[in-house]
Amino acid sequence: MPQLIDPFDRTISYLRVSVTDRCDFRCVYCMSENMTFLPKKELLTLEELDRMCSVFISQGIRKLRITGGEPLVRRGIMGFFENMSRHLGNGLDELTLTTNGSQLVRYADDLARLGVKRINISLDTLGAQKFKDITRWGDLRKVLDGIKAAKAAGIRVKINMVALKGTNEDELEDVIKWCADEDMDITFIEVMPMGDLGNEDRLDQYWALSDLRERLAKTWTLTDIPENTGGPARYVRLNETNQKVGFITPLTHNFCESCNRVRLTCTGQLFQCLGQEDEADLRKALRDNPDDNGPVIKAIRAAIALKPKGHDFSYDRQKVAGEMSRHMSHTGG
Ligand code: GTP
Ligand code: 5AD
Ligand code: SF4
Repeated sequence: MPQLIDPFDRTISYLRVSVTDRCDFRCVYCMSENMTFLPKKELLTLEELDRMCSVFISQGIRKLRITGGEPLVRRGIMGFFENMSRHLGNGLDELTLTTNGSQLVRYADDLARLGVKRINISLDTLGAQKFKDITRWGDLRKVLDGIKAAKAAGIRVKINMVALKGTNEDELEDVIKWCADEDMDITFIEVMPMGDLGNEDRLDQYWALSDLRERLAKTWTLTDIPENTGGPARYVRLNETNQKVGFITPLTHNFCESCNRVRLTCTGQLFQCLGQEDEADLRKALRDNPDDNGPVIKAIRAAIALKPKGHDFSYDRQKVAGEMSRHMSHTGG
């Protein structure tokens, strides 16, 4: 099997694919209230996405995570999952997604049938009003029902919670206990400076996970565990609940040295790093060569040969640095 190796000797085996930049929520740390979305003709069609992902898999991608925006709002998306599922056990080890959970009641059974074994669901609060405040447009009830549907379908759920200063700080222990009761994993994420948010201020939102971890240690005994799911999270076990808790800490602890991923946007650009501007236009290679994957493979390999060492995000000295003008929904987190 061919492999994709970058200039820092990192094997790239994980592709995150944003299938739409649209979303049915407007989370305050992710989008401004008045977002302009891409015109439909800019998007790769589902057939083009299939071809592109299949080429990646032929070149050594073993894990595919479908993201957005909200991936489940793209029309016909189950057909795309169905197409990707043919690669499972045949080059692809894992097919999964990151979702806000709003459409899971409708899709959980199909996803399970198509070989999705675990999903990451973004949920930053268990309070209905606070949920509205954070997501602007979301309905907590729908997401909780979606989580229930995923579990009932036999899918393992991981909750992603962005740690937000002054917003969900007070719920830390409650959310962890809820995840323990529901047998779900949980990962906390430091808010990253991606995209213009209108009136929101990043520094006001930022809560360092080193502080959060210290607070956890007041309630539970933490043991570091070496487990790695191929993502950037580092894990601890809470001895009392025997529960796994992850930390994604791009700001307080940079994990770029072990990076194994690249990101494909819904318009077919390949971003080699979440926190850098470098990109390659794979859509052109794909559309210019409808019957020949050779040029696409060449473009993918050339892009990976230029993967930067890491991001430059920082909030040191009360200043935001390394920020990206594009929104997280563009590259899919
Ligand atoms: P698993 O380990 O497979 O559960 O997935 P994951 O942590 O890679 O995926 P998930 O979609 O849950 O990622 C959670 C968030 O972590 C993303 O939305 C990003 O905010 C952040 N993240 C993921 N990969 C990177 C990365 O390479 N760099 C940085 N800075 N942040 C990342
Ligand atoms: N910083 C950190 N995480 C973010 N997400 C979206 N925007 C940001 C940001 N600026 C998270 C969402 C979701 C995942 C796809 O990315 O909460 O869990
Ligand atoms: Fe939508 Fe996810 Fe962004 Fe929230 S974080 S607005 S759910 S894409």
